[in-house]
Amino acid sequence: MAEADLMEKIVSLCKRRGFVYQGSEIYGGLAGTWDYGPLGVLLKDNIKNIWRGQFIDQKNVYPVDAAILMNPKAWEASGHVAGFSDPLVECEKCRRRFRADHVEGDLCPECGGKLSEARQFNMMFKTHAGATEDESAVVYLRPETAGGMFVNFKNIIDSLHPKLPFGLGQIGKAFRNEIAPRDFLFRLRELEQMEVEYFVKPSQWQEAFEGWRATMHAFAEAIGLPKKSLHELEIPDGERAHYSKRTIDFEFDYPFGRKELWGLAYRTDFDLSAHAKTSGVDLNYFDEETKERFIPHVIEPSLGVDRTALAVLASAYCEDEMGGEPRTYLAFSPTKAPYKAMVSPILKNKPELVEKAKTVRAMLQKEVHPWIVWDDNGNIGKRYRRQDEVGTPFCITIDFETLENDTVTVRHRDTGEQERVEIEELPEFLKVRIEAGVVDR
Ligand code: GAP
Repeated sequence: MAEADLMEKIVSLCKRRGFVYQGSEIYGGLAGTWDYGPLGVLLKDNIKNIWRGQFIDQKNVYPVDAAILMNPKAWEASGHVAGFSDPLVECEKCRRRFRADHVEGDLCPECGGKLSEARQFNMMFKTHAGATEDESAVVYLRPETAGGMFVNFKNIIDSLHPKLPFGLGQIGKAFRNEIAPRDFLFRLRELEQMEVEYFVKPSQWQEAFEGWRATMHAFAEAIGLPKKSLHELEIPDGERAHYSKRTIDFEFDYPFGRKELWGLAYRTDFDLSAHAKTSGVDLNYFDEETKERFIPHVIEPSLGVDRTALAVLASAYCEDEMGGEPRTYLAFSPTKAPYKAMVSPILKNKPELVEKAKTVRAMLQKEVHPWIVWDDNGNIGKRYRRQDEVGTPFCITIDFETLENDTVTVRHRDTGEQERVEIEELPEFLKVRIEAGVVDR
């Protein structure tokens, strides 16, 4: 399949089935914003829960949820006010603006006009806090979640007394006034990040860096990204962010090319030192064993939720033929699938079937998972196809035989194969498969 076609198909499926809609669509949209619908929210939640399991719960990492609006001095200290910028060129004829590193040569790709010299464009969104709108009231929407963790380093030390190495982690929105938002969920102006700031003794940075590198690969595997589509790129001197002494970008083969998915950076003591200097607050750590006082160094695995969701969708998208008809399905493992199973009476105008199906669904919602969806629209073939498109691994049908012997039909998404299972055994049947991430028998 041509790659442009594949992207179009993914965007269209996302809209058709309630994963992702264009932001403010009825007003013609707003570039760089997308709204997640019910299925998208469930998919993102599943991704975030897997991240929490691997980056927070199993490590010495404390969760925080810091404010999006911060004192602007924090962004002066971090270097974002002075340097969080992209090179911008403008067409002197049609006035369109481009990122200088996205265009070749000095002519406008739209109208052929002459492009201006590149100038630096700061990507932080500005707004005003309070009733005055002058410079003294300027605040920024955070461009990364990291800042909210650095400014809470001392609070965590004082309230929880953790020993190094330890981390702070959070999931939250960040905002970047990208010059050229593009490629669906890839380059957004409003995005979501999952970040950890992991504080270590200066001598421990390499070991911690390798540890998080391995965790990122394990996470990629857990969310079902194929190994062959994930690539590490060591960012050379001169190309890293101002705070980083070592960065590895994790790149993914998106339908529109190989692009950055996540980053892993060694931020040294840059941030804590800069915040200590600007705020005048002592951000040293006191090591009770060695009696040393020092600013810890930081390893930062930084993952975009939206880029991850797009990689997951692109990896799961499948087309095949079933029963002589073309079919589209999302091959999610049951852990990631928004709906874990669908329950349906074979005929919706037979009250005895509907009643039985409702009882089975309520029992599964209680014993297996809350997201067992009901679907009685159209014929059974249409219901299966609809659930295939949202990646529901199991479809359970209540028919007349159910009323006789308390068995149901379970249909497997990937193969379309069906088998009869006793209702009594159904919760265990599903639980085992959902926990193991197995769709087929
Ligand atoms: N705290 C470090 C940091 O923010 P970054 O490389 O600028 O580093 C980290 O961003 C991750 O956030 C990226 O690897 C990507 O997953 C995501 N990200 C960054 N800019 C994005 C954008 N405009 N749209 C969607 N995701 C973005």
